[in-house]
Amino acid sequence: MQQFMKTQVMKTQVCIIGAGPAGLLLGHLLRAEGVDCVVLEARKPDYVRSRIRAGVLENITVSLMERLGLDARLKTEGLPHDGFNLADGERLIRIDIADLVGQNVCVYGQTEITADLMDAAEDRGLQVNYEAESVALHDVGGDAPYVTYTQGGVEQRVDCRFIAGCDGFHGPSRKAIPASVAQEFELVYPFGWLGILADVPPCNHELIYANHERGFALASMRSATRSRYYIDVPLTERIEDWSDDRVWDELAVRLGPEAAAKITRGPALEKSIAPLRSYVFAPMRHGSLLLCGDAAHIVPPTGAKGLNLAASDVHYACAALVGYFRSADNDGIAAYSNKALARVWKSERFSWTLTKLMHRFPGDGPFERAMQVAELDYIASSRAAQTSIAENYVGLPV
Ligand code: APR
Ligand code: PHB
Repeated sequence: MQQFMKTQVMKTQVCIIGAGPAGLLLGHLLRAEGVDCVVLEARKPDYVRSRIRAGVLENITVSLMERLGLDARLKTEGLPHDGFNLADGERLIRIDIADLVGQNVCVYGQTEITADLMDAAEDRGLQVNYEAESVALHDVGGDAPYVTYTQGGVEQRVDCRFIAGCDGFHGPSRKAIPASVAQEFELVYPFGWLGILADVPPCNHELIYANHERGFALASMRSATRSRYYIDVPLTERIEDWSDDRVWDELAVRLGPEAAAKITRGPALEKSIAPLRSYVFAPMRHGSLLLCGDAAHIVPPTGAKGLNLAASDVHYACAALVGYFRSADNDGIAAYSNKALARVWKSERFSWTLTKLMHRFPGDGPFERAMQVAELDYIASSRAAQTSIAENYVGLPV
């Protein structure tokens, strides 16, 4: 006799796929507005919690955490930064963002944002189903999409009005949009960033992005006692070949003697190499599926825009969904893709420009280098150029 395992069916207004920052933020915002939703996440909570990512927040990200009343730790532990520095081998060019555009950024790890959102989920009635396997999207082109997955061996189905694809670059959501309507734009860079996290005081109170003849370096931080540094390396490098000492030696050379004198070395809490990519997928909505965050776009980390772009997508998506459920207003849904993409492209442009300016590309010759020198010289001497960098760094208006 054949045995049938019954599929468990759940109904909700919005099924969110992925519990990264995009999915968790959207879930919390929708719950706060009284919209029903459920979040499906492939991984275990500990895995989601332990991912180390960037740590510079624009106003949009801070303001969404404020709106949710989940900014208590961010307020006490986040470090407001009024400026950052570009090092060109000889000097530090300080971009005084507070003076130039009257705003600042907040240094607070994405890991902490994720923890704050995860910790508040139960209290706020946000249902997150972890270890959801084989998540698949169905009928996204129509008005009654659904999502299937298995959990603990039991088949599950979520019937919903909308699906929010917040499942990062490798998730299934983007692939559910038919190739016939999709466009992809991609640039893969010929290097990766080797990052090291250590419990040592930062070498400088502000970030330093350095373009040195040996390559790029970034001095960043998580707190007064935890530092985050990066160098660029060829994609052929293996992390096993980079002892902590080798990384510290390279950082000291690339960041220049003044910063090097203030570097405190310590054992790596985390060390890894991440490739760099610029990627945009359009449209960001198809029928009842809205894409948010890395599911739709990737930026190289040079401008620290990844998390912040996910936050601005979520801001637009939340407004569109709330408009739909509260007032039967479809305009926000119809406008979502164009609205989100307009901001995405500007962040892509900024991240790409800063990446080109601050890295030594393998094929580049004397002309390309002269362009970098001229541009850095221009930035050093022009308030207008610095203002342009500052307004992009703090985040363009949403
Ligand atoms: N089913 C369910 N969940 C999935 C699936 C799947 N098949 N595939 C991926 N996911 C989950 C991932 O495990 C992850 O938790 O989707 C989540 C996507 O999270 P992120 O990759 O962090 O993407 P996003 O939330 O858009 O965050 C954008 O975070 O990833 C960084 O660089 C990125 O800073 C940027 C920001
Ligand atoms: C980080 O602190 O991890 C960081 C900061 C700035 C960047 C990228 C990463 O541009």
